Amino acid sequence: MSKLLLHGGKRLNGEIEISAAKNSYLPILAASVLCEEKIILHNYPCYTDTENMCEILKSLGAKIEKNNDNLVIDASSLSEYSIESALAGQVRSSIFMLGALLGRFKKAKVAYPGGCEIGARPIDIHLSGFRRLGVKVEEKHGFILCDAKNMTSASLLLEFPSVGATESLMMASVLTSGQTKILNAAQEPEIVDLQNFLNKMGADVRGAGTSEIVINGVKKLHGCEFSPIKDRIIAGTYLIATAMCGGDVLIKGVNFHYLQAIVDKLDKTACLISHKNDKIRVISDGKPKAFGKIETAVYPGVPTDLQAQLMALATICEGSSMIVENVFESRFKHVPELIKMGADIHVKDRVSVVHGVKHLYGAPVTGLELRGTASLVLAGLVAEGYTIVSGVKHIDRGYHRIEEELSGLGADIRRIED
Ligand code: EPZ
Repeated sequence: MSKLLLHGGKRLNGEIEISAAKNSYLPILAASVLCEEKIILHNYPCYTDTENMCEILKSLGAKIEKNNDNLVIDASSLSEYSIESALAGQVRSSIFMLGALLGRFKKAKVAYPGGCEIGARPIDIHLSGFRRLGVKVEEKHGFILCDAKNMTSASLLLEFPSVGATESLMMASVLTSGQTKILNAAQEPEIVDLQNFLNKMGADVRGAGTSEIVINGVKKLHGCEFSPIKDRIIAGTYLIATAMCGGDVLIKGVNFHYLQAIVDKLDKTACLISHKNDKIRVISDGKPKAFGKIETAVYPGVPTDLQAQLMALATICEGSSMIVENVFESRFKHVPELIKMGADIHVKDRVSVVHGVKHLYGAPVTGLELRGTASLVLAGLVAEGYTIVSGVKHIDRGYHRIEEELSGLGADIRRIED
């Protein structure tokens, strides 16, 4: 079982090239089954979530090969339209396969998805969207069974701008004749990336990045090459790590505007942030001031996927901070572990109040979900003494060899097997 051993107190200095976005790659991998010609995706990031998604595609009959950091997908001989729970239960993104399989085969049988345990993770918005498109949806024995032989285009309003539901419905509609509109659509950069990928394959999708997406169905899609965007959450994680540790780090490859919401909060309180083209420079004296109140929200608000990392920062800020988690109902699992390290945090429902302390102390802590485990690593970078972080399998879902990236910046961190 892997663990991460950290010795706190090192400053971070140097440059880091950010890898491709997990939450872009996952829907794009799903969407690749819509095409019967070869797809080449660049900068493949070896996260366990993307690896699991590749296994799902192979289980359907797709051929996948990796050469250097490209992924070549050939879904021409796809034979299967059903995904068992052993695979579907590994990742949340198996739910995206529903839309993609309906687009390709007009039928699908997918076991309930897995994903980080940060709430109930219902799929009602996905399923009500499919029903609005004329898909017959049944849920039984742990599977979602869809019959889309009568699928039509339609105008559908999402009751919440769900990222996954927006992506799933985009995929289901690109090969359906007529015009489909998705209103109250999610506006995350990864949705725009999916639109760009679908259009590169010959689809006709407009409006991603706004609350209204319009899809004009086309008959067939063709092969293409595509480079998904870089991971804004990983970039935000290293920006926050530098604000905590002190130092001078150049973060390369990410569009600065994707991080505007947290930059507005951290610049001049926790660190100094500047940017030029796709490079973001963060400088910190390692004595951050509290950033006041932060509320997570859908894009372009403060991302829920950076909430845990911001809380780690808040624990050592001078002053008190308030963090409100508005997107998921159970995303404070990192709090008891941070308290074990000496943090002063009080939680009631979705509100946490964090009083900054002079020091955190190294301790054995356990990560329970992806971003919460990242927050424990950040805390270990500044804690006095040694910290051992268990639950590394969670962090490997969305960061590739985080210990190598952080030690490349000067952190004292390594992976140990026990
Ligand atoms: C995506 O999850 C991301 N995962 C999550 O990243 C991210 O936190 C989330 O979007 C929000 O930005 C991937 O893209 C693979 P949602 P998703 O549907 O699609 C409720 C990470 O750490 N909801 O926008 O599951 C839901 O319960 C992961 O990288 C319904 O009620 O998020 C939640 O409260 C974690 N019914 C809210 O909407 C539904 O049918 C947002 O969920 C769907 C969602």
